[in-house]
Amino acid sequence: MRNLIDIKELTIEEIEELIKVAQDIINNREKYSHKCDGKKLATLFFEPSTRTRLSFEAAMMELGGNVLGFSAASSSSTAKGESVSDTIRTVGCYADIIAMRHPKEGAPLVAAQKSVVPIINAGDGGHNHPTQTLTDLLTIKSEKKRLDNLTIGLCGDLKFGRTVHSLITAMSRYKNIRFILISPKELEIPEYLKKEVLEKNNIKWCETRDIEEYMGELDILYMTRVQRERFFNEEDYLRLKDYYILNKEKLEKAKEDLCIMHPLPRVNEISTDVDDDRRACYFKQVEYGKYIRMALILKLLEVE
Ligand code: NCD
Repeated sequence: MRNLIDIKELTIEEIEELIKVAQDIINNREKYSHKCDGKKLATLFFEPSTRTRLSFEAAMMELGGNVLGFSAASSSSTAKGESVSDTIRTVGCYADIIAMRHPKEGAPLVAAQKSVVPIINAGDGGHNHPTQTLTDLLTIKSEKKRLDNLTIGLCGDLKFGRTVHSLITAMSRYKNIRFILISPKELEIPEYLKKEVLEKNNIKWCETRDIEEYMGELDILYMTRVQRERFFNEEDYLRLKDYYILNKEKLEKAKEDLCIMHPLPRVNEISTDVDDDRRACYFKQVEYGKYIRMALILKLLEVE
């Protein structure tokens, strides 16, 4: 039985296969509409979510399956003091596969050790978010037609942004990738990523405070929200929250085929005047999220 806790658990070949299946689903929706008849997906969300939870549920429904779950810890027995392990043992009696989001780093890994059904990490604290990364990879592959030879700018909260951590880990395995890490000093990527991913894989990368400095060189600009819920004090959040606001003027030097991405939700970091720019891909990215999750569910449930 396979889980998906960290994006590293998937080989490059497996990711390629998932992308192929997702693209086939996009082109042949009918063919997949009964693949999961009689199967159930549980979504256990101990933290807020719109896209991740609903795209998982929509994905399972489009495969013919059913969904159950909860969308807040307060409405589950967690509020009575139940442990993650006991919750998982329980839900394993009702569902064939579980997508779980939790504020504690490592909680889905603990869950996987206890579970009798596959566990998908739908975000664990400020750590990882592998299915957002699969979404991002499908978006990049579909929009740029490649996953190598890319200069990728990541901007905003690179410290707490779990989507950034998983994306850097995944993209570091492709050829000729260069990262431009754009953040305030306080929100730089964690040391472990610099040492164990960037340096270990000999990746080209640099850090800057200035969103415009490398704008003309970027193939991808990945904007992120400052992760308020991970801050230790509100003052720091208020000081940093509007550090970067992408607008039309800041895009003046950008390439014609730049792909602007954002895992969403957006707060202020992309001005709405960018939404109708051809290069804005973040709402397409939302749509890709459902298809790649359909492909992932099929893989983990070992459906042909
Ligand atoms: C992200 C998350 O939850 O980490 N959202 C998502 O899943 N698309 C990004 C965020 O909350 O800022």
